[in-house]
Amino acid sequence: MLEVKNLSVWYGATEVLRDVSFSVAKGQVIALMGGNGAGKSTTLNALSGLLKPKSGSILFEDHDVCGRSPHEIVLLGLAQVPQGRYCWPTMTVRENLELGAITRNDKQGIASDFEDTLTIFPVLKQRLNSRAGTLSGGQQQMVAISRALMARPRLLLMDEPSHGLSPKVVEEVIQAVRILQERGLTILLVEQNVGVAASLASSAHVLRNGEIVLSAPGKDLLDNPELLKSYLGR
Ligand SMILES: Nc1ncnc2c1ncn2[C@@H]1O[C@H](COP(=O)(O)OP(=O)(O)OP(=O)(O)O)[C@@H](O)[C@H]1O
Ligand SMILES: [Mg+2]
Repeated sequence: MLEVKNLSVWYGATEVLRDVSFSVAKGQVIALMGGNGAGKSTTLNALSGLLKPKSGSILFEDHDVCGRSPHEIVLLGLAQVPQGRYCWPTMTVRENLELGAITRNDKQGIASDFEDTLTIFPVLKQRLNSRAGTLSGGQQQMVAISRALMARPRLLLMDEPSHGLSPKVVEEVIQAVRILQERGLTILLVEQNVGVAASLASSAHVLRNGEIVLSAPGKDLLDNPELLKSYLGR
């Protein structure tokens, strides 16, 4: 479904991603790991069109999306949950979700996805008219995920959804990702939490200094938390 080949991204004169290659098959949850500054968000931002790669190719289904605009990429079915539970804090939860569907005009589909999203995160039902900024960190993460789902993606990019949340809330986020997984959504999950990655992903790639230094098919890598932690710098 997604095939990334020799992706390189530069910020000014600095190369922050070098020759990154990996693929994600339909229905898989794949983890992208690495310590702070390794290039995880840069990779996701290149895939979603927020950054223009210097070279390489990104094939999403049959489309070469490398260098296309974020708008075009969302329309093709690829949505991103940005790092830091990003919501529009002064808008209500309902408005945040509605903005997630801004690229669509199928009213009925939007309404049914809205209801559907609330079945995944029922706690948001009571908060629909609250400003997103007044919600707890965990609930804001749920709004951020819901907003991405409102674009009805076939591939979801998630940037550290567990970061900074309490263990109980992390468990709720894991449950939500499992539901999405069972529905057949394909997910590229950026995670530094080895436990979260191991409980969701079927395989993992590890980035260090902008390069993939370790990849393993199946659970091999995820079954080896000590090795992973050494690559994450802990
Ligand atoms: N706008 C920018 N301009 C210049 N350098 C940047 C910019 N954004 C990120 N970088 C640098 O690019 C490298 C990769 O950053 P990136 O945000 O992709 O890392 P990350 O793996 O997501 O880290 P974290 O776990 O902290 O989110 C880092 O060295 C970072 O300092
Ligand atoms: Mg990041």
